[in-house]
Amino acid sequence: MVSMQAPLQAPDVGRETMLTDIWGTPDVLRNLLQVYMKNGSVEIPGLREKLPAGHGLAGKTPLEIMSACSQKRMPSGFMNRFSVIGSGTSWHATLLAEYLIEYMARIPVEAHYASEYRYHEPALRLGDVVIVVSMSGETVDAVESIRQITRHPEMGKSVLKVAVVNNSSSSLASECDLVINVRAGAEVGVASTKGFSATGFVFELLSLALADECDTWSADTERSSFVKRLQELPESMKEVLDREAKPLMQTSTDKPIGIGECPLWDIGCQNVLAQNFIFLGRGCNFPVALEGAMKCKELAYIHAEGYPAAEMKHGPIALIDEFMPVVVVCPRADATYEKIKSNIEEVKARNGATIAITEKYNDELEQLCEYVIALPETHEYLMPLLAMVPLQLLAYMMGILRNNTVDHPRGLVKSVSVKLEESGGY
Ligand code: AGP
Repeated sequence: MVSMQAPLQAPDVGRETMLTDIWGTPDVLRNLLQVYMKNGSVEIPGLREKLPAGHGLAGKTPLEIMSACSQKRMPSGFMNRFSVIGSGTSWHATLLAEYLIEYMARIPVEAHYASEYRYHEPALRLGDVVIVVSMSGETVDAVESIRQITRHPEMGKSVLKVAVVNNSSSSLASECDLVINVRAGAEVGVASTKGFSATGFVFELLSLALADECDTWSADTERSSFVKRLQELPESMKEVLDREAKPLMQTSTDKPIGIGECPLWDIGCQNVLAQNFIFLGRGCNFPVALEGAMKCKELAYIHAEGYPAAEMKHGPIALIDEFMPVVVVCPRADATYEKIKSNIEEVKARNGATIAITEKYNDELEQLCEYVIALPETHEYLMPLLAMVPLQLLAYMMGILRNNTVDHPRGLVKSVSVKLEESGGY
């Protein structure tokens, strides 16, 4: 792999940047735990409040309507379902929600691109749930997706409309029956980082609430180990940030980061001249492989694709050679770990350089991969959020190395809003 070890063109320490967005993620998650968890149970405002008269589901709470969609509640006959909708990074969050809610609460979930959903009349039934994810709450395809339902003579009042937003006074929020604020605070970077992590964490909490309501835990121990790891996640993230990002947060511009001082910086330096990247993950780690590829495109301007790891042999494997870095999210805690390992061996057999993200005790990958990014142990369903931190940092570092304007990437705006669309700007 062509590489360079460059003196760090560090961000102006002390100025708020995308790096401070990422650095602030553990505090955002701690705040969500404080506000949305009470005595080990999830308490999201409005989740247990009855819908008002005049609504087709009046008198029922959103939690009751949502849990009524569970396989556990409707063993046979037609099932209501969740449609989860978003754009860009928010679409990746909807895909993560699909895995988490199906795994934990046995509720059928479909993830949709807002730009597609907006133009096809969805086949919805009384009792269905539509969740729209948008950090800004102003993305036109997301807002219009929910407005088409509101306008519909039958569906308008018969489905539960939920907004998952970072702005409770947004257009999208005003259209919905329930608003869940991800409380990420303002993001300096146009490319979303802590916003994605906060949204993923809110879906972890919602899945926990639904699993409790639908009683889908196989044993109390399963629930308690998940909740323990959930409460540990901010600290685990901080541990990764301290090891990988602290040198960037502290270094002044003229002092290069020494080799080995910041493992992820070394990996960035040694792969920054790549023309392409592939990101792989399985199960609930597939959506973060997609988001890792998105950040690589947005921040480093490097073409990148995310795939479910097993899909690689159905085409993308033809791309693999010594010039193609392949990032693989492969936690040992994952039920398909052995299968992911064989995907890594397929890459290795074609001289592809593998960058593995796994738990710190997993030595066997040290032998198999060029680079290993070691993470603290966590629950299988929480690994996507922990693995997202080094993926965001790697893209950020390569963007810095290429002197890109990482806080305001070329061609990107924070929100592709209604106004922007009306002005023909997009
Ligand atoms: C920014 O990182 C994103 N990549 C961009 O795609 C964003 O996710 C998308 O525009 C949706 O924005 P929203 O979450 O505000 O709706």
